[in-house]
Amino acid sequence: MKNNINFLDLGLQPLANNYLKKNQLNRKEKKYRLKIGINIGTKLVSINQPISSKLMFNNKYPYRSSMSKTMLKSFQNLAVLINKKFKPKKILEIGSNDGSFIKNFSKKKVIGIEPCSNVEKITKKKGFNTYPLYWNLKTAKKLLIKEGKVDLIYSANTISHIENLDEVFRSIDIILNDNGILIIEDPSLLECLKKNTYDQFYNEHIYVFSLIGLENVLKKHNFEIFHIQTLEIHGGSNRYFIKKRINKKKISSSVKDQKKKEMKYGINKISTYRKFAKRVKLSKKKLKKIFLKIILNDNKIIGYGVTAKSTTILNYCKIGNDLVSYFIDTTKAKQNKYTPGTKIPIFKYPGFIEKDIDFVFLGAWNFKKEIFKKEKNFIKRGGKFIIHTPTPKIL
Ligand code: TMP
Repeated sequence: MKNNINFLDLGLQPLANNYLKKNQLNRKEKKYRLKIGINIGTKLVSINQPISSKLMFNNKYPYRSSMSKTMLKSFQNLAVLINKKFKPKKILEIGSNDGSFIKNFSKKKVIGIEPCSNVEKITKKKGFNTYPLYWNLKTAKKLLIKEGKVDLIYSANTISHIENLDEVFRSIDIILNDNGILIIEDPSLLECLKKNTYDQFYNEHIYVFSLIGLENVLKKHNFEIFHIQTLEIHGGSNRYFIKKRINKKKISSSVKDQKKKEMKYGINKISTYRKFAKRVKLSKKKLKKIFLKIILNDNKIIGYGVTAKSTTILNYCKIGNDLVSYFIDTTKAKQNKYTPGTKIPIFKYPGFIEKDIDFVFLGAWNFKKEIFKKEKNFIKRGGKFIIHTPTPKIL
């Protein structure tokens, strides 16, 4: 990326969600150097070499937002808030995945844009108005003709996946009413730095936003953040409520408060990122040590929840099938495949953690609460989870 100072090198990484079929195991996988940097002008933190969207977001996309109760509940709560506070007549979701958010609204009211046609189809089949398209100027212009302007746009974990943010916001500007609301939700850079969750960086996550960085981009397009919510989702996310500058809506104190927190942490200083990089290297060493100790004691480790994030951890820490016997996961599209790069088998979640397992690496650490509740029997019988955040440990 232009004007970036790199501060972290996460090594060679495969495409984070490219789960391998058995017949692909002997083929050479394409890997990409994953370096992270900060833009000296905008203060946006990003990966250095974004990969073409078509390679990552296509008709084989395995991610389903409906796989977690936490996500479903969060979407449901947000829908209630939207109807109560903003009363939009027409809503657009950018990156509607399998419809987990838009299903909370009347079919006449919502439009979904989703470039991964395999998941877009799921939502369409349920009778929703969806388009299998990438979010860009062409899509916005097409939509404007077909659907007219909208009152509210929501996008969760999608804007940070698109390299050209200027085009993203220009396209939003075209289709959003002048007094319309834009809500975007993505992992928080502040939380990522605090919790040492370097695995928020993978080829799909081109950016990990801070309020300060995002605001610098929005400013160029006459958008303003008027409210911010911090969420536990995905290990700590920010939900930004945004308006056009001509809309004179009051700016809440939450924006000032968050900015203060970010400045206090040093989010605009390169020294903060250099310290983070040091902590990441230490984290790798500690995690590897934990795995080796367990294995040397003749214990077996399995993984729980295969995530794009765990692809970064496993490949960066060089944790392969010699250390993790297999993963279990509830997502059908990942089952009976192998983890990208590290080639660990993935099996269907059998409904519980099997009796012969004492150690479980929590790939889906971002759903720790939900998973710990579900696996209380495993914990009761002395089973241990291994987690890498904020520092690697056995829980
Ligand atoms: P994500 O962090 O990218 O959302 O992926 C979470 C993965 O973890 C997804 O494949 C579903 C899986 N998972 C389980 O297998 N069991 C669970 O209880 C939860 C919450 C997630």
